[in-house]
Amino acid sequence: MICNNININNSGILEFAGQDTTCLAKKYGTPLYLLDENKIRDNCKTYVNAMAKAYGDNFAVLYASKANSFKKIYNIVNEENMCVDVVSVGEIYTALKAGYPLSKAYFHSNNKTDADVDFAIKNGVGYFVVDNAEELDVIDATAKKYGICQNILLRLTPGIDTHTYEAVNTGKVDSKFGTAIETGQAYKIVEKTLTFNNIKLCGFHCHIGSMVFDSDTFLRGADIMLDFIYKVKTELNLVTEQLDLGGGYGVRYTKNDPVIDIEKNILQVSDFIKNKCYKLNITVPKILLEPGRSIVADAGMTLYTVGTVKKITGYKNYVSVDGGMTDNPRYALYGSEYTLFLANKASQKSTLECDVVGRCCESGDIIQQNVLLPEAERGDILAVCTTGAYNYSMAMNYNRIARPPIVMLKDGSNYVAVKRETLDDLIANDL
Ligand code: LLP
Repeated sequence: MICNNININNSGILEFAGQDTTCLAKKYGTPLYLLDENKIRDNCKTYVNAMAKAYGDNFAVLYASKANSFKKIYNIVNEENMCVDVVSVGEIYTALKAGYPLSKAYFHSNNKTDADVDFAIKNGVGYFVVDNAEELDVIDATAKKYGICQNILLRLTPGIDTHTYEAVNTGKVDSKFGTAIETGQAYKIVEKTLTFNNIKLCGFHCHIGSMVFDSDTFLRGADIMLDFIYKVKTELNLVTEQLDLGGGYGVRYTKNDPVIDIEKNILQVSDFIKNKCYKLNITVPKILLEPGRSIVADAGMTLYTVGTVKKITGYKNYVSVDGGMTDNPRYALYGSEYTLFLANKASQKSTLECDVVGRCCESGDIIQQNVLLPEAERGDILAVCTTGAYNYSMAMNYNRIARPPIVMLKDGSNYVAVKRETLDDLIANDL
């Protein structure tokens, strides 16, 4: 199995987090997002414990909540001693309403509007991760209005190509995010930051990409960032308190994806950082990481009911389900691979080669192509694994299709964390 929370029981039924998925489908209806709460907590602990081993208490792990944002998740990560990365007023508001202490939130975004900045400062967001020079002016003026000094990190692009897929390859010089070190603009923005009275520069941030499996990428990122930290220390007399190396650790969507040993990876990076800081004669800054996908992806599974099974003689077979790109647009966007099961026939032989498609009026509405499943028929339950990240958070209402609920599984019981959208929800803003 791609993850240890997936299992086939003696009756040939797929279980997730020890629970019968066909019973869950019956109880809550489909399409249905499941999230294994214990797995989320274990993933958090893996990071927090490894970082403590690596850096003592001089670290923070931020959950990148764009991966999956709803009220309950902010409570969970708070209980697991994590900070959060938020990227919009919507995420800030969700965290706020969940009772999450916003002093532990880091506010990203490459284009924060004046209203965003105002909202975040008014509500006490701890840190801004500043993307560009214009943003500094707005933060300084707004912080002055509220009579505070706003903590910030500067997001820099170290100029690294991760060779992951283009949509998530964000550390390159020509990236839409951050300010480039190579062009000298990063240095200039540091100088500019130091001229403001209502901004405190606490450190630097970089995020190189997503679905990264090797520690080499993080080492290269840290190397360039530490050289920069050394430069600003010697030339501008600025001591960097925090260095945020971003998120990006990959997960196993299929058996072809490698298994990552997160702890080993973190220790390799910390050895490198400590050595380099020693050589440069600088203090090791507080190190931050921002995992999103690797906290929630393998804690998720989506259940669908099979509808039409269309066999086009001599051509191909389609298995249509009652969800699709509206609850999981990742195949349509990136061609992302997933592992699929027929939950009620999980131990039957897979003989049907097919494309699993959704029910939108859109031929790109595909969950997965060329998969092998047991002979499918109307009423079967189809499970897509590893959907905890970037599925609910990227879900949409195209064709006025309502979004599925999120049901949390914990210690043999289950509860609704996000309700199923209703038809009335769909027209709630229509006048
Ligand atoms: N920090 C920053 C600044 C980021 O931009 C991201 C992801 C993360 C942290 C978290 O990265 P992770 O650990 O989740 O890889 N929608 C795409 C993923 C977009 C990622 C955007 N940034 C997908 O479905 O694959």
